[in-house]
Amino acid sequence: MYLSNLDVLQVRNLESVHITCHPQANIIFGANGSGKTSLLEAIYLLGRGRSFRHRDLRVVINQAATELVVAARVARGSDGKRRQLGIKRTSAGQFEARLDGASLQSSAQLVAELPLQLIDAHSFMLLEGGPQQRRQFLDWGVFHVEHGYTDLWRRFQKTLKQRNQLLRHGRIDPDVLRTWTAELVPLCEQITVRRERYLEALRAPLQDAVAAFDGLGEVSFEYYCGWDRKLGLAEVYKADESRDMATKTTNHGAHRGDVIIKVNGQPAADHFSRGQVKLLVYALKLAQASYYKESSGESCLFLLDDLPAELDYFHRQQVMAFLNKLGCQYFITGVDRQDFTDLVENIPHQMFHMEHGVVAVE
Ligand SMILES: Nc1ncnc2c1ncn2[C@@H]1O[C@H](COP(=O)(O)OP(=O)(O)OP(=O)(O)O)[C@@H](O)[C@H]1O
Ligand SMILES: [Mg+2]
Repeated sequence: MYLSNLDVLQVRNLESVHITCHPQANIIFGANGSGKTSLLEAIYLLGRGRSFRHRDLRVVINQAATELVVAARVARGSDGKRRQLGIKRTSAGQFEARLDGASLQSSAQLVAELPLQLIDAHSFMLLEGGPQQRRQFLDWGVFHVEHGYTDLWRRFQKTLKQRNQLLRHGRIDPDVLRTWTAELVPLCEQITVRRERYLEALRAPLQDAVAAFDGLGEVSFEYYCGWDRKLGLAEVYKADESRDMATKTTNHGAHRGDVIIKVNGQPAADHFSRGQVKLLVYALKLAQASYYKESSGESCLFLLDDLPAELDYFHRQQVMAFLNKLGCQYFITGVDRQDFTDLVENIPHQMFHMEHGVVAVE
């Protein structure tokens, strides 16, 4: 899967950018504030329907405009069949997504069309931040390999919301609470089965990715499902009923799941340098891409913001070699052109120079 053309209108300082993308390496260099991250943000918007920098998309729309548009031709499959994917967001809050002219109903459909991975200056949070980051990482993978996961996830979210709403009420009817609990238990269990199945399948690709990078040691992980396994979830909810009522929230379930990642038997975030943490994040995301390719036959797209600031030259080379081996298309940004000249010497690529929101082909 790769983008063959990209059109960006009114995304931050990018008023009108039209580029022909390279199917493999796309390097975007330019001064601070020139618009490099905005270009990655535009691609991310197209693949996720949201930004990785700001919750409120009004901030992302160019200050002088009332709507943003991102569109691309997406080539997929062995025959490289191309489809036109586009999104539009107005400052009044309207969001539209289209595939070959037909309206898409949810951002899950965008995600399915454009599987992408982003690595930027905040990516170390995958290991150092809270469990939500790791659940998102995990659910990205499960979504792409398990059909019907979105539907299951939505039913779970809805049921959990209903149960929490009830818990927030002053007077709770225990029978009504137990009805919601009985609905929630199998949904949590089904999510757990899928997450665990995915993590098992990720073990071998992760070992391969870790082995491709020097200095990571023995990486292992285990899944915490969000409750005490020995008791079973129905028992946990029964035992926790008064606590749930007192705290007015559901304290256990799939929404409390986590992936515990260890290096040489110790929690990775506690024992690694920041650079090693970042490298492990690369390994985790590349392992996901590798397993995605194995299960779907498609490669996914990588957005690497300011790679030269993130990794040393040697590790940058290793990351790019891995991406090339997987056949991924990638967009890498950086301030200085010379940081890339040696890196891409033997790699088919396209360089772009970004200046004040205008892209020039080098
Ligand atoms: N809504 C907006 N409308 C117009 N311009 C904006 C808007 N939001 C941000 N900008 C400007 O867009 C420019 C590009 O920002 P961006 O973060 O893409 O730069 P960059 O090339 O990644 O810089 P750096 O090398 O510092 O990371 C900045 O000058 C910023 O002030
Ligand atoms: Mg930037």
